[in-house]
Amino acid sequence: MEGSIVLKEVTKSYQNGTESLDVLHNVSLEIPGGAIVVITGESGSGKSTLLHLLGGMDKPTKGTIVVAGKDVAHSSEAQLSQYRMKTIGFIFQFHHLLKDFTALENVLMPGLLGGLDRNAAQLRAMELIERVGIKDRMHAYPTELSGGERQRAAVARAVMNDPGVLLADEPTGSLDEFHSREVEQLLFGLSRDLGKTLVLVTHNNRLARDGDIHLHLTRGRVEWIFGPNGADSSAFPEKV
Ligand SMILES: Nc1ncnc2c1ncn2[C@@H]1O[C@H](COP(=O)(O)OP(=O)(O)O)[C@@H](O)[C@H]1O
Ligand SMILES: [Mg+2]
Repeated sequence: MEGSIVLKEVTKSYQNGTESLDVLHNVSLEIPGGAIVVITGESGSGKSTLLHLLGGMDKPTKGTIVVAGKDVAHSSEAQLSQYRMKTIGFIFQFHHLLKDFTALENVLMPGLLGGLDRNAAQLRAMELIERVGIKDRMHAYPTELSGGERQRAAVARAVMNDPGVLLADEPTGSLDEFHSREVEQLLFGLSRDLGKTLVLVTHNNRLARDGDIHLHLTRGRVEWIFGPNGADSSAFPEKV
């Protein structure tokens, strides 16, 4: 159950005047804990919407979402805020580090909010900073870090409270090819080494091949899915 994700007939609609627009339509999925799931799809196909629903940042219009045994679609705001702090680690396209705090302080902050004492938080944050390869930059402020270093700090911050699930929405979308690879390898490595489920949105098809499950969205629908839970995989094009 740790890190598993189950979606049943999830629809997210927006009301536009009298029209209702389905941004996600009837999405059903089963993802075992520890899997690496790569989501691709054109811009506007609903990738971020899906990640926001998984992250408890938004609620579906219809359907059920159960992540790590928690019914996200039917939780109170207070439960969701706990969920976002403890169960989920979110990495965005832009780092969202707080500019008045050093890399180390940014990483340890969720630990303090999550109830660790200062020493314990500091120790863990330093371990993670080392793990993501920016030990010599830990006292730098975000404006003093390169794009790749900022995303590494953002990754360390996301795993600070030891969440079972990492959600990454185009985390390398603002990096060059070389630094993208580094951050991607870091995320895959963390997921594999620590047994965390990773759901990664990317435009990079090479990454899709390296994950366990590849899901492609088209206009809010799962157009195809490859992997152990790909239902009737014969109905889908060959994985190349
Ligand atoms: N708050 C909103 N109100 C209305 N439409 C929205 C809202 N948020 C997203 N959308 C629409 O939902 C669609 C999917 O958006 P998004 O999930 O961000 O796509 P992607 O991440 O795949 O580019 C887009 O057509 C977008 O315009
Ligand atoms: Mg998006």
